[in-house]
Amino acid sequence: MVSYQSAKEEIKRSADIVELIGEFVQLRKAGRNHVGLCPFHAEKDPSFTVTPERQTFHCFGCKKGGDIFSFWMEYHSSTFQEALRDLAERYHVTISEGFSAAAERENTAKRDALFKINEKAADYFQRALSHPVKGGTARDYLNGRSISKETISEFRLGYAPDEWDGLIGFLRHDHMGLDKAAQAGLIIPKKNGGYYDRFRCRIIFPIFDLRQKVVGFGGRVLDDSLPKYLNTPETPIFHKGEFLYGLHASLNAIRKKHRAVIVEGYMDWLALRKHGLGEVVATLGTALTAKHVRKLKGYSREAVVVFDSDEAGKAAVLKSLPIFSNEGLSARAVVLPDGHDPDSFVNENGLTPFLELLDQASAMLDFYLEQKLTPTDSDEEKVRVLKEILPVLSEIRDFTLRSLYVRRVSERAGVKEEIVWSELKRFVGNPPGKTVERNLKQGLASSGVAKRYHNDVVFLNLLIHYPHTVPRLMDCEWRILFSDPVIVEVVDTFFEKYHQEGHFPSDDLVESLDSEAARNQFREALLQPPIYSDDEVELCVDMFEERVNEIKRKASVQSAGKRGDFEGLNELLKAKIAKSLRGLGT
Ligand code: CTP
Ligand code: MN
Repeated sequence: MVSYQSAKEEIKRSADIVELIGEFVQLRKAGRNHVGLCPFHAEKDPSFTVTPERQTFHCFGCKKGGDIFSFWMEYHSSTFQEALRDLAERYHVTISEGFSAAAERENTAKRDALFKINEKAADYFQRALSHPVKGGTARDYLNGRSISKETISEFRLGYAPDEWDGLIGFLRHDHMGLDKAAQAGLIIPKKNGGYYDRFRCRIIFPIFDLRQKVVGFGGRVLDDSLPKYLNTPETPIFHKGEFLYGLHASLNAIRKKHRAVIVEGYMDWLALRKHGLGEVVATLGTALTAKHVRKLKGYSREAVVVFDSDEAGKAAVLKSLPIFSNEGLSARAVVLPDGHDPDSFVNENGLTPFLELLDQASAMLDFYLEQKLTPTDSDEEKVRVLKEILPVLSEIRDFTLRSLYVRRVSERAGVKEEIVWSELKRFVGNPPGKTVERNLKQGLASSGVAKRYHNDVVFLNLLIHYPHTVPRLMDCEWRILFSDPVIVEVVDTFFEKYHQEGHFPSDDLVESLDSEAARNQFREALLQPPIYSDDEVELCVDMFEERVNEIKRKASVQSAGKRGDFEGLNELLKAKIAKSLRGLGT
């Protein structure tokens, strides 16, 4: 046994942070660092940085960072003590238990107890399924659904017999605390004291985390009774929107194939695995969440979602669209022939036709538009579909992507792009506006003023959100900043109007712009939330003024050189040197 400090040091010596984090986040080398998409917040451009030299990580976007222990805790939502234990096991370091602070110990002990009781329960359900008498019907049921013995044992499927206290008796026998079992959602307290089993007369699917621990269960009836599925409720170790069924087993295949196939149900997952599709996960009937997608993007380049062909399925496609876009995971969607789900489809047709469908899958938005809009749709129908799409588009934070989507929607619906843009504007400023703003600001703070945005985006953003900067910006020789005539047209018209009206030009400025390109540009600028915080604004205006001066200075040096005006050139160079010295604080 070694002390906890030295165990920690020893683990750090044995571990390679790039290799460890690389298992969960796709990293690429960038100079001394490795970078990737942050698993802890929504982002499309990598600001998550791992530095092997210091064996640390840091995200410039959300500011999370630390060593391998901090990573493990954050990624697996575990306590420090658990992280230490997991990593010690992984790197074959022996540790003693009595080290952490009391609060931490207590929390870990609580979670440990839940994992332990889940493990016991999984064991109980497995035994019941293989019980010669009790498990008979359940085995027949699974057999009837083409689930093999191997699958049953590999994924630890089980059976909850038709008893109110079967699990309770088993746990009592092993002196396991029933209050813990209740906290784990396995048993339910009765009104007048005592407990009863939550899962009865159901096939049991244990749900695993990435450390292969049982976090919860799903249970399916053997007949048509309702509810068809019953799941573990929220517990301190089980959060439904976080876990993907089967990820623990599919991780490597997803990483190898660079794609993740997302289906809805336990049975779909098992059937696809059995037919040889490795890179698959199931959402367990809940809507896809950003947390799901954030996990997947650590292992794969794209996701292919298999939806039901019903209305709910189509609605789910649309809902997932901004999640994928904002997380930067490219996504496609497939619909199966009417009445099929992946389970029935592969069992009937085999894997090859399923793989063909996956290969033909359309990009999310196209899929939705294809499903929803046909050329024969009435105008009312088109308007209805547009109204569904617009709020979704307004959630997409990437402006280029959003513009592309707007174009596609306008083409498909046969409505002018301009109209789509102006309708879209109505949705901006509603929720998730605040988050968008925060994210933009975070992105900015991390990358130094204006690195991520083009000059023109920043310039227009200042004009729109910080009218008090207008006089200064108007006075600097801003024209030399922009080579794009569209921007010049927008800014020119803006200042002209401002000058005439003496205040921020009203929204009809858009319509007064001559070219369609300029109108689009300005509309888009209006949609963009403020990039800067109040105290960054002045700096930004300074920066523009400096840039103008710099460009002017360069131009004068060049022309003085050309003219052979050496005296003039000398003056200019002196001025430059003086300026750099000032910059150095001399
Ligand atoms: N689900 C759930 N609770 C329900 C219904 C469904 O949690 N009351 C989840 C389950 O994870 C289920 C998935 O949603 O696997 C998909 O539901 P559904 O399509 O109804 O079931 P199938 O997976 O097709 O189940 P089966 O083939 O066994 O009928
Ligand atoms: Mn099914």
